[in-house]
Amino acid sequence: MVLAHSLRDSGTKKRLAVLVTLDSLDSVTVEELKVKTWSLVDLLLVDSYPQKLYDEIIPVDRIFNKSPANLYLMNRPDLASTFTKIALWRQTRFRKIVYIDADVVTLRAPDELFKLETTFAAVPDIGWPDCFNSGVLVISPNMGDYYALLALAQRGISFDGADQGMLNMHFRDWHRLSFTYNCTPSGNYQYVPAYRHFQSSISMVHYIGPDKPWSMGREVKGASGVYEELSGRWWAVYDRHYRVSVRVTRSLILTLAAHNRVERRVHVRPNSAGATHCAAARKGRGFES
Ligand code: GLC
Ligand code: MN
Repeated sequence: MVLAHSLRDSGTKKRLAVLVTLDSLDSVTVEELKVKTWSLVDLLLVDSYPQKLYDEIIPVDRIFNKSPANLYLMNRPDLASTFTKIALWRQTRFRKIVYIDADVVTLRAPDELFKLETTFAAVPDIGWPDCFNSGVLVISPNMGDYYALLALAQRGISFDGADQGMLNMHFRDWHRLSFTYNCTPSGNYQYVPAYRHFQSSISMVHYIGPDKPWSMGREVKGASGVYEELSGRWWAVYDRHYRVSVRVTRSLILTLAAHNRVERRVHVRPNSAGATHCAAARKGRGFES
């Protein structure tokens, strides 16, 4: 959800679709993927009902690696069902897909990637730059690649036991994209001068590894300060859209409405979880105290 909000906030003009595995997501979460939430400040400034968060929710079946030994080489048994990612290649009603992992936040919309002529593009992996990182991919869906990947998945063929190893074994020739499209901060090593030099052109930050901003919390310590800085970019989007509880927002708006400080264009719609999504319109200076 933070990823989609960051794409919308940075002005993407593209349709947003999300692949979901219904056996691991409850229906409330699936509903939340559809609705854009607003910070209190935004809420007071907008005069239209919240737009969609994702335009499309695409259910897919999970594909497990039945020979997961290689996952233990990187101590990541939690990645046992990342072969599911191959479902991207069967989405053939899309000519081109810019795939982005859910543990990414965008700082600027990468819409220009849709103009690439190549059928497969990715960013080098910082751990082994002859390989690409599979967290950001530009692909052209087609059933030929899908069935070839499915055959590898069914036989558990992947040098890391997960999607990245498998995809690198299949797509040997890949178009290299700039690191600014998949900037992976590392707690252990960061090329700080390069980061400072290219910082302003970073499109996407990808929090690889088992620790994520949402699991580590706001106080993280890396050697260079870069990790904290980039983790802070994720929290900034989270706070903008989720920190103010929607329930508080609703009661605040109703309180203000009762004081005749907000005009009547207040929409309140409870969802199945009892949470509420609201939009209020401000007229002139009437909302300022
Ligand atoms: C890297 C990729 C991620 C993938 C994992 C396992 O962390 O960014 O997308 O799932 O490797 O292959
Ligand atoms: Mn990832």
